[in-house]
Amino acid sequence: MAITIDGKATAHKLRAEINTEVQKLVSEGTRPGLAVVLVGDNPASRVYVHMKEKACCDVGIFSDEHKLPAETGEKELLSLIESLNHDTRIHGILVQLPLPKHINEARVLEAISPEKDVDGFHPYNVGRLVLGKPTFQPCTPYGIMVLLKEYGIDLTGKEVVVVGRSNIVGKPVAFMCLQQHATVTICHTRTVDLPDKIARADVLIAAIGRPEAIPGAWIKKGAVVIDVGVNRIAEKKLVGDVEFEAAAERASYITPVPGGVGPMTITMLLQNTLLSAKISHAAKQNSQEEPS
Ligand code: GUN
Repeated sequence: MAITIDGKATAHKLRAEINTEVQKLVSEGTRPGLAVVLVGDNPASRVYVHMKEKACCDVGIFSDEHKLPAETGEKELLSLIESLNHDTRIHGILVQLPLPKHINEARVLEAISPEKDVDGFHPYNVGRLVLGKPTFQPCTPYGIMVLLKEYGIDLTGKEVVVVGRSNIVGKPVAFMCLQQHATVTICHTRTVDLPDKIARADVLIAAIGRPEAIPGAWIKKGAVVIDVGVNRIAEKKLVGDVEFEAAAERASYITPVPGGVGPMTITMLLQNTLLSAKISHAAKQNSQEEPS
């Protein structure tokens, strides 16, 4: 029977540490600030944005919310981003995805200053991630890597199979695992013989968004299973992309849904905002120390 990876407990511990660091930075004169931009009224996005605001408030980060109507034009959104780029109270800018169809997502993400890109979605930061250079790491993959480290799971030489090739999870987590010396396979909807690929995985990362699409019987004995899926199958029932009970019988470690990867995502957003504020604070100190 697998050990359950407790994302909720890890997130709780990390948030307490972030809170301490935020208070220290505030006492030195800088309060970290995060701007969250939501366009339209996608119900899931509204819930996430609300959770982000509450999480900021809990750790002492200034949260600046911008809730815009669905018909907001791209120009208007770009000019808001431009003003946030120049706002010294703001160290992180997050535009909640997905955006309404009439807005070009890539153009919006590229408009965010890479220095305030706490989601790690700007091509500059994506490029740095691929090159293995320090950068803002996208929050969900970052949370996964922290959980693996927390549970002492070393990826060196391991076969990691990522199912899903999104820009938000699949692609970045694959590169982060590569950076940790894993041998990485990325699978997707056109992959031939998915069960065969999954059977090879020492570490399986499922990020497809289809309820229990991966049967437990496909999992290799002793594998680590990271389930990124959050699928609502009934009013009060959330399930992952992996059949939990059957997978837990074969795996060595497994993340539950809810309470696995989910709580880590917002925690890493807080961490990235704190990091950005620290960099900005240090730059301010340095410029004040320079002889005139
Ligand atoms: N939509 C789903 N996940 C994310 C995320 O991590 N960041 C943003 N901005 N939007 C999302």
